[in-house]
Amino acid sequence: MTVEQVIQKAIDALEYSYVPYSKFHVAAALVAKNGDIYTGVNVENAAYPATNCAERTAFFKAVSEGVKEFEYIVIVGGMNGKVSSYCSPCGICRQVMREFCDKETFRVIIAKSPSDYKEFTLEELLPLSFGPEDLV
Ligand code: THU
Repeated sequence: MTVEQVIQKAIDALEYSYVPYSKFHVAAALVAKNGDIYTGVNVENAAYPATNCAERTAFFKAVSEGVKEFEYIVIVGGMNGKVSSYCSPCGICRQVMREFCDKETFRVIIAKSPSDYKEFTLEELLPLSFGPEDLV
């Protein structure tokens, strides 16, 4: 799949966001090195901190199926499901990416549409990070 197609896949997943509280829909499409794509949405909770972001939903879906090597993630989001600006990943999601992804080669793509997106490495978004190697 092309990046443009993966962005469209993320946009299509926005309808599944469970956001009765914020109304801010977020969807992610995580591309594994084996070519599989895992979508994820934010799932909110009446006890607000129990909310799970879209990016983490995608990662946890993949990891729970035994997939732990990733190429890039696409993130889209907006109020009421209308994507009008770039949705940047929160700090907790960046740290989850750090657990499984190479800092220099894993790419985070934030998109407004299939033809309007920005791309970063994880190192750009989470410099001086703490990761698995620090615990050996
Ligand atoms: N949210 C995400 O799903 N991903 C992000 O990177 C930013 C924030 C969600 C959490 C919550 O459901 C809503 O957006 C508003 O914070």
